[in-house]
Amino acid sequence: MYLKMIISITNQKGGVGKTITAINMAAGLAMQGYTTLLLDMDPQGHSTIAFTDSDEIDLTNYEVLIGEVTFPEVIIPTKIEKLYLAPARISLAKLESKLLGELDGHFRLKDKLQQIKDNYDFVIIDSPPSLGLITVNILVAASYVLIPIQSSYFSLEGTDDLLETIEKIKRRPNPGLQILGVLITIHDHRTVLGRDIVHQIKRVFGKKVFRAVISQSVRLEESPAYKESIFTFAPSSKGAKEYKQLCQEVINRVQQERATKSY
Ligand SMILES: Nc1ncnc2c1ncn2[C@@H]1O[C@H](COP(=O)(O)OP(=O)(O)O)[C@@H](O)[C@H]1O
Ligand SMILES: [Mg+2]
Repeated sequence: MYLKMIISITNQKGGVGKTITAINMAAGLAMQGYTTLLLDMDPQGHSTIAFTDSDEIDLTNYEVLIGEVTFPEVIIPTKIEKLYLAPARISLAKLESKLLGELDGHFRLKDKLQQIKDNYDFVIIDSPPSLGLITVNILVAASYVLIPIQSSYFSLEGTDDLLETIEKIKRRPNPGLQILGVLITIHDHRTVLGRDIVHQIKRVFGKKVFRAVISQSVRLEESPAYKESIFTFAPSSKGAKEYKQLCQEVINRVQQERATKSY
């Protein structure tokens, strides 16, 4: 029995740690024994490049979403046991114009995922830096959203738009969608500003904020370039500990949620 949890890592701002979080959460969950699919939905394909050489990839999510092939034809194993990748490259940027005007334009990802979601404990979706049709597809398909927020002066700018989009999607296409939590990323705990920002984020999001806070770390920044997760690149680093703590919290929250639902 698989958990079948679809978690999107979403924030329309670029550079807030979505991809680093998607990569390391997916790797961390797989290393804890959960069969996990990392689904790259950003045309920049950074999650894809972090686990493969681009010349190894033939078909991508784009071909799945326009109906040319199915997910099993594009999903590839990674060097981490139990971790699989559904890759993307720049071609995915064409998807929005292809889906525009299609009756099922918002539901394409959800529909295509039906074929495979039962085969995984977790599907972790890396999102593009926009609130366009790709992000809407992601939020319609997801069970949970994890929102990474960078610990910086303008960190909360734009979150209103994201929360509004989530609310709209909950009203109609996906009433079951929930915010799994808010993750503070790229944090510098040594500065007063850094600490102030954490307080501010906690004031707005309360208990939704994960206890795990991801520090600013050169090791984390370097790891994707070496095609490694932080757990193999620098296993005893702060970043590895913090992402491990995040994975544990994610598992706890998901299981708590399941337990309350089954009553
Ligand atoms: N905790 C961190 N410490 C230092 N650099 C980080 C950290 N998290 C992410 N980065 C770097 O910041 C940049 C943006 O991160 P990324 O995960 O690509 O964000 P997004 O996917 O939201 O655009 C990348 O260069 C990444 O290596
Ligand atoms: Mg990214």
